[in-house]
Amino acid sequence: MLPKMLILVTLMLLPVVSNADDPYYVYPDVFNDPERDAFLFGTFPEGFIWSSATSSYQIEGGYDADGKGYNIWDTFANTPGNIANNDTGNIACDSYNKWEEDVRIIKELDLEYYRFSLSWSRILPDGTADNVNQAGIDYYNNLIDGLLADGITPMVTLYHWDLPQDLQDDYGGWLNETIIYDFGEYARVCYENFGDRVKLWLTLNEPWIIAQLGYGCGGFAPGVCADGTGSYVAAHNLIKSHAKAWHIYDDDFRATQAGRVGITLNSDWMEPYNRSLETDLNAAERAQQFHLGWFGHPIFVDGDYPEVMREMIDYSSEVQGYNESRLPTFTALEKEYILGSSDFFGLNHYTTGYASKPDEWVISDNPSYYNDYAVDFWKDPEWPSSGSDWLKSVPWGIRRLLEWIKDEYGDPEIYVTENGFSTKDIDDLNDPDRIDYYQSYIDEVLKAIEMDGVNVKAYTAWSLMDNFEWAAGYTERFGMHHVDFDDDDRPRTQKDSSLFYATVKANNGFPKPTEEPITEEPAVAGSSHLGLTITCFLPFVNFCLRKFIL
Ligand SMILES: *[C@@H]1O[C@H](CO)[C@@H](O)[C@H](O)[C@H]1NC(C)=O
Ligand SMILES: *[C@@H]1O[C@H](CO)[C@@H](O)[C@H](O)[C@H]1NC(C)=O
Ligand SMILES: *[C@@H]1O[C@H](CO)[C@@H](O)[C@H](O)[C@H]1NC(C)=O
Ligand SMILES: *[C@@H]1O[C@H](CO)[C@@H](O)[C@H](O)[C@H]1NC(C)=O
Repeated sequence: MLPKMLILVTLMLLPVVSNADDPYYVYPDVFNDPERDAFLFGTFPEGFIWSSATSSYQIEGGYDADGKGYNIWDTFANTPGNIANNDTGNIACDSYNKWEEDVRIIKELDLEYYRFSLSWSRILPDGTADNVNQAGIDYYNNLIDGLLADGITPMVTLYHWDLPQDLQDDYGGWLNETIIYDFGEYARVCYENFGDRVKLWLTLNEPWIIAQLGYGCGGFAPGVCADGTGSYVAAHNLIKSHAKAWHIYDDDFRATQAGRVGITLNSDWMEPYNRSLETDLNAAERAQQFHLGWFGHPIFVDGDYPEVMREMIDYSSEVQGYNESRLPTFTALEKEYILGSSDFFGLNHYTTGYASKPDEWVISDNPSYYNDYAVDFWKDPEWPSSGSDWLKSVPWGIRRLLEWIKDEYGDPEIYVTENGFSTKDIDDLNDPDRIDYYQSYIDEVLKAIEMDGVNVKAYTAWSLMDNFEWAAGYTERFGMHHVDFDDDDRPRTQKDSSLFYATVKANNGFPKPTEEPITEEPAVAGSSHLGLTITCFLPFVNFCLRKFIL
């Protein structure tokens, strides 16, 4: 590798810091509450994990390569009308063939962790452990070995939504409790084959999405419409499957492999619209329990669903004439089995909304998850937008959510396993809005650690590169690297945000301008940018990137 010149640019003469005590705001026009929004300089605790993430269906392609079985996203995406532009993940980023490129671009940014997922049907084509596809095992062995050879620690998700199609066809997938056994055996195959080198496992990615969008008519695979019934059944089986996979590790692998296994849950922050109204405070709490608590409460509190879910769904079911609650129940033994089945709390978080109490709760004729909890939830149109309708940039929300998790779940170790920002400007390598998002959200994580004492151990940027964004296909881009999907080679090119993120990682946060930052160099790809790396003092790196690197 050519030696690269390292230049330190100190922009302390800029007018904006003429008085070092003036608060600095990332979004001066929108969020400028000095108590809440002022930028905090400082570094993360030693050993803090900086990672970036992808998932199998979103990047791999190779959908029918070397013995892989089809999964529900193969089927769903190849059914016209389900995905924007009828896009599919058949090739995606072609990481099945180009995994060495992926390792290279991670290495270039000097990121020491990488979160990716295993494709269940690539390893077990029909979903059961009766048939193991050696080519699938080989693919992941190569990837894992390639990462480790470059000093990158793998953080591996067992299930990121790509269920083997046979398990959906044979018995309804997550709707049938047979899945608990099959998921456990799949996990066992993964621990057996990769656990000598993989020490950080995530069982399920975002079970809320699987249950509600996959089985509640939310427009995700497998596209089952059973809102308020099937979605609760799917969630029930997801929770038990997760617990099974954790116990298999705990019983049979922990002693020899000494790794950690957790689940990763997603949630918006639910901000009470009017904090002086008890009813809005209650509505926000209720919404948080129905989202994060649906899965978090059984695993981290007492083995069972949040009381408010039990009460409201039981009541609503009765009014609707069901002879039993639409929310299933756990036995005492199951509760014991589920409670404590995660070595840390994995969190995927993107955005925030306001919650308030609707005027009245009219129980719908048809079952509905949203009707069950009766909260008005919306996003302020004034908040900065992204390339996705649902994603508003509200940095302070992540801090409030982290504090809620700390208080609600007994101060667990929290791994932020996803956080990121989408754009529609699909060919632009200059992505200042993504930089603003990362800068402000990461700073709020720092505040959660420093000011609220939240035990956050890791931050993971979603995503390493542009990829197949589910129902939105390739129309929404979350990547820190651009991927050209019109080019058969699927070239990956650094966006400015990747250099920004590498700089934050190299500095382990945002050192004060008067402190000497660690000037470890994030390497720049030789091609699209000048071979010149500039480490800037934050928060002005943004400016530096635009002015000097491009
Ligand atoms: C997707 O495919 C369907 C069925 O073939 C077709 O009607 C529709 O126009 C296609 N949509 C796009 C955006 O190409
Ligand atoms: C679940 O699957 C098994 C076989 O895999 C089947 O015998 C059983 O009827 C299914 N249960 C339901 C509720 O569909
Ligand atoms: C919030 O509620 C208080 C108490 O009812 C009320 O006085 C105030 O106007 C409300 N604020 C907003 C923004 O609605
Ligand atoms: C409750 O209703 C379901 C159908 O909705 C039926 O299959 C079940 O047998 C009923 N259970 C009782 C206890 O009546």
